[in-house]
Amino acid sequence: MKEQLAKIRAEALSAMENAQSAAELDGLRVQYLGKKGELTAVLKMMGKLSPEERPAMGQLANEVRAALESAIEEQGKRLEAKALEERLAAEAVDVTIPGKAPKLGHKHPMYLALDELKDIFIGMGFTVLDGPEVELAEYNFDKLNAGEGHPSRDWSDTFYFDKDSRVMLRSQTSPMQVRAMETMELPIRIIAPGRVYRKDEVDATHSPMFHQVEGMVIDKNVTMADLKGTLNTVVEQLYGKGTKTRFRPHHFPFTEPSCEMDVQCHKCGGVGCPTCKGEGWIEMLGAGMIHPKVLKMSGIDPEVWSGWAFGIGLERTAMRRFKIADLRLIFENDVRFLEQF
Ligand code: DAH
Repeated sequence: MKEQLAKIRAEALSAMENAQSAAELDGLRVQYLGKKGELTAVLKMMGKLSPEERPAMGQLANEVRAALESAIEEQGKRLEAKALEERLAAEAVDVTIPGKAPKLGHKHPMYLALDELKDIFIGMGFTVLDGPEVELAEYNFDKLNAGEGHPSRDWSDTFYFDKDSRVMLRSQTSPMQVRAMETMELPIRIIAPGRVYRKDEVDATHSPMFHQVEGMVIDKNVTMADLKGTLNTVVEQLYGKGTKTRFRPHHFPFTEPSCEMDVQCHKCGGVGCPTCKGEGWIEMLGAGMIHPKVLKMSGIDPEVWSGWAFGIGLERTAMRRFKIADLRLIFENDVRFLEQF
């Protein structure tokens, strides 16, 4: 029996040390220590021994069992450690592989044009204001001398929020003139860029949502000459020295006299081409001397103060600045287009 135990011990230990997987090791445990295992079978024969032999044999058998159990435990740990190492190796991340560079965006061309405009006006001492797109009709029309029933309300008579037509999406940035007059100390020099809304159909030059930049100066002895001088300076800084402008008489309810300013076509230099629709000039803004009634309605004495104002279409300015042919490109946000600026 002694030899039998020694043989089992030697065989089992060697097999266990060479076990390559947890499953194989478990198989060995069953093979030797399980209910029908080889060691168990030997232990069962203990009863047949003489009482003198039994204690020594029992001790030996216990030693063998203990040796096998600790071999199983140790090999188990070794296999576990090996499996972890293999997993770590397999799942390792190579931190030296060059990464994918994130695509950086940049400013939209229209905001590039706006930044240029802002820089020019800030350089001349103007303050930049921001104002509400959801506006009171009182500010959008009434306080700009276009009371109920005024024909100029027709083209923008849309986008109201209430049945009394008191709250609306502003149709122009001009209500910012009123807001500035009501809240700021005189003299005033402001620009106010932002979105405006009209019931236009979308085409190459129209959109129901677009951007304007309102401008206003109120001071003593301000004249139309200041308006023309300022706007000519802005245009030259924006489009280059020698860029020609022309002022045409026009009508706005809140300015008197009123005008529109055109810039000579950058494509044909004034001869006439498809870009300027054969005119030689491209309309850029509306402007004029602030109507005395408008000053008075906002609490400013027109006998003491005078001022001028203008409203530029920002998309058109950007289109001219970056030679963009179709307004829709500005809003579609196609990366292939935007990447070019
Ligand atoms: N608000 C006018 C428009 O949307 C543009 C305009 C004209 C603004 C004359 C002004 C101005 O400030 O003085 O057509």
